[in-house]
Amino acid sequence: MGIKVMKIEIRELKSSHLEETDKLFEKCLRDLLKREGLSHDQQLFDEEVRRLERMVRESLTDDRIRFYAAFTGDSVVGTIALFEPGDLVRCGLTPEPGCLEVGGVYIHPDHQRQGVAQSLLAFAEDELLRLGHDFYYLDAGFKSSQQYWVSRFGNADVLLRDYWGQGAHHMIWKRWLGGGEVRSFGCDGKVSVNEGIRGVE
Ligand SMILES: CC(C)(COP(=O)(O)OP(=O)(O)OC[C@H]1O[C@@H](n2cnc3c(N)ncnc32)[C@H](O)[C@@H]1OP(=O)(O)O)[C@@H](O)C(=O)NCCC(=O)NCCS
Repeated sequence: MGIKVMKIEIRELKSSHLEETDKLFEKCLRDLLKREGLSHDQQLFDEEVRRLERMVRESLTDDRIRFYAAFTGDSVVGTIALFEPGDLVRCGLTPEPGCLEVGGVYIHPDHQRQGVAQSLLAFAEDELLRLGHDFYYLDAGFKSSQQYWVSRFGNADVLLRDYWGQGAHHMIWKRWLGGGEVRSFGCDGKVSVNEGIRGVE
């Protein structure tokens, strides 16, 4: 299974790609943390890289996780995943049984701003429709990631205010699929959920 989007081919990840995806996550996280002014935070780097590496490996045997990659030739230039909503989405809302989250969107720094994430998201949305879903969740904690999703989707539907510290919010979007159109569920960023939530003071 796979689709051609310009020069990119999107396919489900296999065990033969693990070495390359591990390198991609490391490269991407180094670049991301530098952009966020968090280069010094080795613990955060290690945690995020290990989390992604673990998730890719789990996807090979667990059909509740689907990991896809964008290839140019044989090189992996980006990834995206579908999985059951994680803890951070669960902190902000109660996900409907059986629904999925889109995450693991990591594009190699040399291939960013070339439409790769856009193509991967379009592919993931087609997959979600094919699997019979009407909507999905997506969340973001890093400021530059949030900037990207806000520019694509508009304001987050749920904001976990100060979740990562003073002024460092966590954002969650619920995206509806259908009719070729994707619409937000419409709180326009005005909902701020930060009371009585696990992990939030
Ligand atoms: C954020 C990220 C996924 C974007 O991927 P990408 O492939 O560079 O994005 P695209 O090229 O598909 O971007 C499409 C559009 O968004 C714009 N865009 C790209 N990065 C942006 C950013 N950081 N902020 C705002 N807009 C951005 C592009 O200019 C483009 O707009 P245009 O079509 O009007 O020119 C990528 O930079 C990345 O992997 N970052 C590190 C990991 C990360 O933050 N992942 C998200 C975790 S929630």
